[in-house]
Amino acid sequence: MTPTLQEILRIGRSPALRGVCSVPGDKSISHRALLFGALCDGPVEIKGLGSGGDNSSTAGALRALGVSVKVAGSTARVVGVGFAGLREAAAALDCGNSGTTMRLFCGLLAGCPFESTLTGDPSLSRRPMGRVAKPLRMMGARIDGRTDPGRPDSLLPPLVIAGGNLHGIDYQLPIASAQIKSALVLAGLRASSRTAIQEPGLSRDHSERMLRFLGAPITVDPERRRIEVDPVGWNGRLAAAPVEVPGDLSSAAFLLVAAALVPGSDVTVEQVGLNPTRTGVLDVLRAMSTNIEVVQTAEVMGEPVGRVRVRWMGPLQATRIAGDLALRSIDEIPALAVACAVASGRSEFSDLGELRVKESDRIASIARELRRAGVEIEQTSDGFAVVGSDGLPPKGGRVLPDREHRIAMAGAVLGLLSNEETVVPSEDIATSFPTFGEILQALGGSVRRDVEPAG
Ligand code: S3P
Repeated sequence: MTPTLQEILRIGRSPALRGVCSVPGDKSISHRALLFGALCDGPVEIKGLGSGGDNSSTAGALRALGVSVKVAGSTARVVGVGFAGLREAAAALDCGNSGTTMRLFCGLLAGCPFESTLTGDPSLSRRPMGRVAKPLRMMGARIDGRTDPGRPDSLLPPLVIAGGNLHGIDYQLPIASAQIKSALVLAGLRASSRTAIQEPGLSRDHSERMLRFLGAPITVDPERRRIEVDPVGWNGRLAAAPVEVPGDLSSAAFLLVAAALVPGSDVTVEQVGLNPTRTGVLDVLRAMSTNIEVVQTAEVMGEPVGRVRVRWMGPLQATRIAGDLALRSIDEIPALAVACAVASGRSEFSDLGELRVKESDRIASIARELRRAGVEIEQTSDGFAVVGSDGLPPKGGRVLPDREHRIAMAGAVLGLLSNEETVVPSEDIATSFPTFGEILQALGGSVRRDVEPAG
């Protein structure tokens, strides 16, 4: 019997990374472009769609609800049918590895007068859904799921949603979360009265920006972190308009950190999203004394877009990440942990409890990977502290990403600095950044694709 093979990246100590590149479309904005496209009053052309598995999950779930979604490379055509045009799916909607798909669809389906089931892969099946179900139930939806035997008040996928007949609520989110906020906005658009949502910190606001661009009846007060959705008198359809998705700063972050760490590097990422709710990573790199240049070149659908150039300048300084900065760099923490692992001094990360419930417990995954590379790291309940090696090369070895795209890419970046080979199982990188290995290689990184027997 032929053994099953798995893809790996073999990473070696890298010469300078140099060049100009772009990255696939922003994953968060791509989910929304597909989903809101389905709510439009006609065909919507999407350019620059993210090419990762998570976005395919959203496209697949929409198809299951009867929406025509045709994807060719980075362009897509969604034929919008409005809320009223969505049809009960014949089978469960598979959200794959994507928490955003599951939580956004909870909000969408809460407003649809039929029953739907949402499932996911083993990682997604462990992620908390009570946080989104609670306010949707308050609006009138019925949502059932599994309960973790150790935590009787928990709610885990698969979820069964019986939607329709929603009424508006005034809801204060206990944690800042773009996925929950967006789910409530979607449900609010279908409710019989006004919904107001307030969050304790400003999470990414792509839904608000795109929905307003498409003419949805929502108002936003960013100072008070408050959104109002008032669908009374609205016809339930968004105005179809072409959508352009900027490059994903969360993917670019791995290339920018690599450029800041590999001696002699000079890398520019073009056409990347610069939404201020997402640019914490740039502020942190600046605070660590990275030579970084950010130029906004356009605004697309209310989203700032531009280019970021990072030039290697020597060792980076340790830093502190907490509060609003932690929220604005939540998905870039694995990349920033790598930067801190080789910086001078002790870096402290806190207010990151949410990382414990991402695709994996990311605080534990980061600690495991940094320790493997010989870096001193201590976990806390909501963060960690890293003692930088002050430029001393990390150890090579085998990265154990635990089916986690961002941990795999963080391990690869660390590998560029090691004198020994680093092997990275790479299949899961396709969740968000399938071309990561190729782009790193094109910039001059010492990266070789290979396969090995799985298991
Ligand atoms: C996302 C929101 C964030 C983020 C996730 C994508 C989104 O999670 O970490 O990767 O697209 O809405 P929260 O819902 O916790 O903000």
